[in-house]
Amino acid sequence: MLDRAPAGRDRTALIDEYFRTSFVTDNDLITEAIRRMLAAGGKRLRPRFTLLAAEAVGARGEDHLRLAAFMELIHVATLIHDDVVDGAETRRGVNATAVDFGNRISVLAGDYLFAWIFKNVTAGYPAPIPHVLSATLADITDGEVLQLRALGELGTTRAAYVEVAAKKTASLFAASAECGALAAGGSPFAVKALRDFGTAFGIAFQMRDDLLDLTADEAAIGKPVGNDLRERKMTIPLVLALESGDREFRSDVERFFAQGDVTRERIASIVSGIAAQGGLAETEAVLAAYVERAKQSLAPLGSAPARTELAALADALLS
Ligand code: IPE
Ligand code: IPE
Ligand code: MG
Ligand code: MG
Repeated sequence: MLDRAPAGRDRTALIDEYFRTSFVTDNDLITEAIRRMLAAGGKRLRPRFTLLAAEAVGARGEDHLRLAAFMELIHVATLIHDDVVDGAETRRGVNATAVDFGNRISVLAGDYLFAWIFKNVTAGYPAPIPHVLSATLADITDGEVLQLRALGELGTTRAAYVEVAAKKTASLFAASAECGALAAGGSPFAVKALRDFGTAFGIAFQMRDDLLDLTADEAAIGKPVGNDLRERKMTIPLVLALESGDREFRSDVERFFAQGDVTRERIASIVSGIAAQGGLAETEAVLAAYVERAKQSLAPLGSAPARTELAALADALLS
């Protein structure tokens, strides 16, 4: 037996083993839809945050697998709904749930899963964990609605973008870390440090995701590329390109949004424009500042090995 904390892959394996052996709901069709998504892949980042946060305050990660699994399931339910809202056809390299099961089952499966999670969390965990998770779910939905209201709004500011990213994405990373520390009996300082880490990490994570939507290979990320522009989403590279860009670029984006010409060539021309206006480079710089902030938040944790692993996860967003 190695006398050290399990490495990232081992934690992922523990989480997957937990799902394989322990995940079942009262509804067969919903269980099947969720299991299919869990089996398709995913990085398991949120449950790993919960285990690492528990370890960072001195507990054994594997004693908190159930709580970690709830974090992944909240994520899975939001993804099922998100793909309906965004009209995305692939997820984790396979058909989005709505493609195989339809929008109606997808909406209901997501709703069921949220309710099922909260039924279990309220019965099994003391305050403030259920409250943290309810507030997180409200934030995620709030963020998704704010994002919808800003679709095609060229005047979207970086502050408005950060509010959306903080709510729709960072809130769950923050809660995953916070709840791991709370369940493991961490001090208020440690709990706050881990929550702050999750918030800054999550904002940087959404910025990386926005960049990938413009530049990645579809097969590599297992979900559509170019979908954000197709949906007229005000992602950070676009917001920053418009902030510092010239009038010609702005007019081109206005025409693109107005005309609804979403051929691959047209999308590629907008991506080139964003790059030429400095939107990609500027996003890398802003993202790096959030990574730095995330790592600084971990200072109160001292020299816990889990701290090093969390910092490495943040650094991985840089490449
Ligand atoms: C996707 O999250 C949703 C965003 C917040 C951008 P992940 O990139 O963590 O998705 P999986 O879990 O690995 O599939
Ligand atoms: C994150 O935003 C969605 C949620 C937090 C639910 P995106 O819409 O960018 O996520 P992807 O790109 O579809 O994974
Ligand atoms: Mg989406
Ligand atoms: Mg995205």
